[in-house]
Amino acid sequence: MSFPITRLRRLRKTATIRNMVRETEVNRNDLIMPYFVLPGENIANPIKSMPGNFQLSIDKLVEEVRDLVTRTGVDKILLFGIPAEKDETGEVACQHDAIVPQAIRAIKAELPQVMIVADVCNCEYTKHGHCGTIMDGDVDNDSTLVTLAAQSVTLAKAGADIIAPSDMMDGRVAAIREALDANGFSNTPIMAYSAKYASGFYGPFRDAAESAPQFGDRSTYQMDPANADEALREVEADLEEGADMVMVKPALSYMDIISRVKMTYNVPVVAYNVSGEFSMVKAAAANGWIDEQRLIKEILTSLKRAGADVIITYHAKEFVLSELEKGNRV
Ligand code: PBG
Repeated sequence: MSFPITRLRRLRKTATIRNMVRETEVNRNDLIMPYFVLPGENIANPIKSMPGNFQLSIDKLVEEVRDLVTRTGVDKILLFGIPAEKDETGEVACQHDAIVPQAIRAIKAELPQVMIVADVCNCEYTKHGHCGTIMDGDVDNDSTLVTLAAQSVTLAKAGADIIAPSDMMDGRVAAIREALDANGFSNTPIMAYSAKYASGFYGPFRDAAESAPQFGDRSTYQMDPANADEALREVEADLEEGADMVMVKPALSYMDIISRVKMTYNVPVVAYNVSGEFSMVKAAAANGWIDEQRLIKEILTSLKRAGADVIITYHAKEFVLSELEKGNRV
């Protein structure tokens, strides 16, 4: 009978030793909380498929962001807009008084310390729900670059701290960088949704943002879930065009991509733990099938372990609140 010399269990024996050798920890500084804003006053429409999330009017959004910052210390948010009226090209989003620029100014007036990431895309603003201008039955790349650049400048003027294009047009980072620089925003970083897949996990978001495509799907511009090498080409292109951070989206089924991007490029990697990933946890928890807070911590920790430096997640607020309640450092 021989006995093991290497006993990995030695370093698992007590909570203290486990705490000492732990490789990865999620910190509130890593997290970005997304919000949906719409016109009107005193509105908080619950999003059915995303329990605990709401479409908020600006007054309610400011209240909510104040609550987030004071109770959790999470001071980074991502904004999506639901406009009063949509058009064919998304130009409604390029106006000074578009919904997101208004929301940014309102938040900055009351909570200047909050970092605002502005999602840049046309799908919430077009009647057809696609991310750009339609020509011959498909999204036209180069005319869409014009609206994306204009929308980015409007958002930067309103006070957005980071511009985050999520449209997947070729050349959008270069077009946006050039427009920002030409308008005096050379210090505004671009967080590019670089490896964004055509994913079924966005289902609940499209209810929340009222942005479902009215015909076809997004597979002529978003990536095929079967591809990994192509994700590295997307990241490389965005970095060459001037992206400061790159994103992988969705997160959980794409941890191999997060890991490869992190190992290949020395840049901050953002993981977007998307709506469908959030809603699956909520649905299982509502049925009593899983320990919700335990699962959330495991998911966020796994994303950091895979190589994500930053995580965009609808769980941000509840995660930090739950950790604080347990007396954990977060
Ligand atoms: C806009 C956009 C989408 C998401 C973020 N930005 C939807 C889409 O591409 O259809 C999805 C976010 C989520 O599911 O949480 N293009």
